[in-house]
Amino acid sequence: MTEPDSLRHGRSLPVLDGPPVPLVLGRPASQPADERVDEYRPDAPALPRFAIWTLGCQMNRSDSEEMAGRLRGAGCDEAAQLESADLIVINTCAIREGAEQKVIGRQGQLARLKAANPGLRIVLTGCSVREPDRAGLHKRYPAVDLFLRPDEEPELIDRLGLASVQGAIGLGPGSAPSTGQTTLVGRTIVGAADHLADSRAAALAGSQIRRESATSAWLPIVYGCDKTCTYCIVPFSRGPERSRPFDEIIDEARGLAAAGYREVTLLGQNVNSYGHDLPAEARFEGIAPERSVGRRQDRRGRPDLAELLQTIDAMRTADGQPAIPRLRFVTSHPWDLSDRLIAAMADCPSVCEHLHLPVQSGDDTILHRMGRQYTIEHYLERLARIRAAVPGIAISTDVIVGFCGETEAQFQATLRLLEAVGYDQVFAAAYSVRPGTPAAHLADDVPPADKRRRLNELLALQESLGFDRNRARVGAIVQVLVETIVPPRGHDHEPDPEPARARPASQLGTVHLTGRSRAHTLVHLDGSADLVGRLVDVRIDHAGPYSLRGALA
Ligand code: SAH
Ligand code: SF4
Ligand code: F3S
Repeated sequence: MTEPDSLRHGRSLPVLDGPPVPLVLGRPASQPADERVDEYRPDAPALPRFAIWTLGCQMNRSDSEEMAGRLRGAGCDEAAQLESADLIVINTCAIREGAEQKVIGRQGQLARLKAANPGLRIVLTGCSVREPDRAGLHKRYPAVDLFLRPDEEPELIDRLGLASVQGAIGLGPGSAPSTGQTTLVGRTIVGAADHLADSRAAALAGSQIRRESATSAWLPIVYGCDKTCTYCIVPFSRGPERSRPFDEIIDEARGLAAAGYREVTLLGQNVNSYGHDLPAEARFEGIAPERSVGRRQDRRGRPDLAELLQTIDAMRTADGQPAIPRLRFVTSHPWDLSDRLIAAMADCPSVCEHLHLPVQSGDDTILHRMGRQYTIEHYLERLARIRAAVPGIAISTDVIVGFCGETEAQFQATLRLLEAVGYDQVFAAAYSVRPGTPAAHLADDVPPADKRRRLNELLALQESLGFDRNRARVGAIVQVLVETIVPPRGHDHEPDPEPARARPASQLGTVHLTGRSRAHTLVHLDGSADLVGRLVDVRIDHAGPYSLRGALA
């Protein structure tokens, strides 16, 4: 990069890869003391146009909403695509090697964008940024200027030198900057700054969350993971479990209800372990859920997910309907699927009839090696209980095939489990060794061709099982929350000069829409564009293996 070019461009950023600048907690010093002077100031120096590339799970999407909100709050505009941005934020996923390769493989293209736009700065954050790997990051991601661990994301604005433009951001009053704070998970150092909850509260107070949708919102309730799955990188990327304070979550939900959100999804790596790390309080005296598997915990007097669901469900409109008609939560771990949670799901009309409960394998020996600490018997007992309490509930799961030492018979046990349970949806992947995880010490001995074959076999089985379940829904009327307008095929490669969303619905006539049922099944329908964001009844007339089609009832 040459200095004159970046000056000419006027949008280049000083990148502080190291200790952050001190946080500005009052009016920024760069602003004039007399506010009237503002009137005569020339235009503010050009701010970067930013683009965020988000990979991975819903938690990353939620984190990106927060980063986008902070950047917007600092006065930056959003670029339409990466190519026209002066600041690219890559929010990475590290769950499998393939997810990391997607970003590593784009380094050349990013370097070319930098050559064409010397003012371009690239920030890489998310789960690929782990404290012990810092030294290697520059080598793996040569186009990147600044690396932030997930818990450092609230410092984005400060580290880019944009804080003086925006004023106080990030941390709540009284909390100390915590870049560099780490903790130990086993013997591994991880980022564990616990100011994420405070910084979310500050972002909410300043309306600095740029939500993806005006209909459906993510609401993080617990950060990190305390579980012991030997294959998984998440505890090393995201640190230990840290629950957001109960009242802050309720306030956020109330704000979402007031803003007209139709659906809220509570987020966490394990939402159902919510609250165990919060202080006990008299008002939660009656709460004492017991874990029957996994590490023991003293949960007496602490809020739990059931309490959260009940409190959000109890927000009602004047006519007594839930103010947020649809409440969801992901992901649940079998350790914490308590009877209290099952009862809350059954009692709360807003809680959708869907549970994502990852099983990972159908064989107890493999589960033990995976560190999951439950047996198939326990898992099935929990499922039977929830199915009895919430008849017709849709169940989805995650499965890993080809984990260390998995025999053909053990794999077959997973297929038999899929048949026995009748999942509505299965997210399956071949095992991918994650450096630094306990399983990295085990032999990754299932040959890649066998992993691929097992994965294909499992997906084919689930396709037919899912198809059967969907066929059984033909003729039924299901409630759909309409989310998107699908652009007509054939025009995919030509940019629409006037995107459908920008036109008044009256000019559009009938368009192809998609939405989700309460069971979380994708539903296609035709209707007018102004149905987006609305809950409608749809009569199902066609089933596919992964989705349904119907017409307005
Ligand atoms: N916290 C959630 C899942 C988070 S990761 C839970 O416990 O269920 C999402 C899924 O990715 C996991 O459920 C698992 O199926 C898969 N996964 C995690 N690590 C993996 C690895 N090393 N190789 C392949 N799949 C993996
Ligand atoms: Fe990973 Fe297991 Fe934690 Fe899920 S529960 S994030 S699979 S360690
Ligand atoms: Fe990926 Fe991190 Fe989510 S590893 S799945 S982005 S928690």
